[in-house]
Amino acid sequence: MTDGNSKPVNSTLDPADWKAVRTLGHRMLDDMFDYLEHIRQRPVWQPIPDRVRKEFREVLPADPTDMAAVYEDFKQQILPFTVGNAHPGFLGWVHGGGSVPGMLAEMLAGGLNANCGGRDHVPIEVERQITEWARQMFGFPEGASGVFLTGTSMANFVAVLIARRAALGGTVRTQGVAPCGKRLVAYTSAAAHGCISKAMDMSGLGTAALRKIPTDRMHRMRIPELRSAIAADRDAGLTPFLIAGTAGTVDIGAIDDLSGLADLAAEEGLRFHVDGAFGALAILAPNLAPRLRGIERADSVGFDFHKWGQVPYDAGFLLVRDGTQHLETFSAPAAYLQRESRGTAGGSPWPCDFGPDLSRGFRALKTWFTLKVYGTSQLGTTISRTCELAQYLKSRVEQTPELELAAPVNLNIVCFRFRSASSDLVNAQIVVDLQESGIAVPSTTVIDGRLAIRAAIVNHRTQSCDLDRLLAATVELGRQICETTAASPIPLQEADLAETRSRDGLGEAASDFSSCVPPYAIEEQRHPYNQL
Ligand SMILES: Cc1ncc(COP(=O)(O)O)c(C=O)c1O
Repeated sequence: MTDGNSKPVNSTLDPADWKAVRTLGHRMLDDMFDYLEHIRQRPVWQPIPDRVRKEFREVLPADPTDMAAVYEDFKQQILPFTVGNAHPGFLGWVHGGGSVPGMLAEMLAGGLNANCGGRDHVPIEVERQITEWARQMFGFPEGASGVFLTGTSMANFVAVLIARRAALGGTVRTQGVAPCGKRLVAYTSAAAHGCISKAMDMSGLGTAALRKIPTDRMHRMRIPELRSAIAADRDAGLTPFLIAGTAGTVDIGAIDDLSGLADLAAEEGLRFHVDGAFGALAILAPNLAPRLRGIERADSVGFDFHKWGQVPYDAGFLLVRDGTQHLETFSAPAAYLQRESRGTAGGSPWPCDFGPDLSRGFRALKTWFTLKVYGTSQLGTTISRTCELAQYLKSRVEQTPELELAAPVNLNIVCFRFRSASSDLVNAQIVVDLQESGIAVPSTTVIDGRLAIRAAIVNHRTQSCDLDRLLAATVELGRQICETTAASPIPLQEADLAETRSRDGLGEAASDFSSCVPPYAIEEQRHPYNQL
């Protein structure tokens, strides 16, 4: 086809000039390598200027824009203003750092544009391979099934639906919950993630049908209380159906007594699901794996490759012991999804038979790359190391008189506070100031009714120097806040001060870790990084 001037006109969306696009694409790739290689020199996070926010209030574009110009917008307005979880100083919530193989695999997956809902193609074999690897990781039997989902929130939801169908039979899929005449009740700990409540809500069982069992001093579900709650519910004519244990609570990384929960579930005839969003992958670290004992007896385990597995977002996964029950919960024949024994429509059952999604991307590829490139040994070592760093941070907090630990350190999460008579106010402000300084991004949580600074070390790039900066800045900001507001620090005892004076740099626990960057200074970090 030509235009009036007999210039070739591109009738597809493919580039008219492949050479130019190739050059641009290579530049993008190089820029992302530079970005990751030098990420430590950037602020972890920075506030979004109004002018940038306004750029994303444009009207729907009717006319084309040159891709190089769109990329320029990306560099100026998107790249500098991400949440920062690729940065080693990101310690908030539970965010993975991603990895270079995962990033490259995302590009390859984008090129293939595979739809992994179904049909007979190798991208689905890759997903089956990951299911098999997950089965081996957790010691599940042959016949186990698995499915990629956005994250563990969805994995927990799917697990509740499987348990619901197992408890109420196939009619629940056609008639809904009410005609079954049973009121199902599930159990989890008071420290469990809120998505379990959401799963109960979305499955039509209701959040009130979830019992949140109190926890012990280490934030683990109390099994005697769980046993009593089940008995009380049976006495009240309700139908207990599911125990959802947690491997790595979101607040402090506590691991429930999974063997004890598996025993009780077996005794009571209940299903046993484990929310292992980040903690389940501790199975890859030989020194941590014993703490997950009992997980191999679960009916299902939900976890995220995008957290401790360092696979780029998103890569949630649900592993199910009984693949038939899994299939029976979701498979739904449709004429337009007819299966064949040969041809493109072969290879049934398909991933769409194991979850709510029909169109699905190729999440398995970035996971396959990450697992192959690093092997479970290297990933396990990284996971172990984040826990060692948490112990290092814990000991630094203990050695710093202005700070106090707020909770036991189980795995990779450290909760602490700057000591102040106005603790909640001061610590909340410290966290916001830290985030805005660009030095570190911790988050907050509430422990025993009091706000705490929460540092979750998930990112493989984090080193002891990032934690040193976090603490130095916390103390400095805490002092500044107390000086400039009515808040007062807790006065230090003479003994504490003597300890501060005699402290030589990082203290004893530092000996395992080498410092990686020059000492931090708050002001130095406050600079705009608007360019790549
Ligand atoms: C224990 C736990 N469960 C579930 C979730 C939710 O996982 P996702 O964010 O992948 O949906 C999280 C997230 O941090 C978590 O820590």
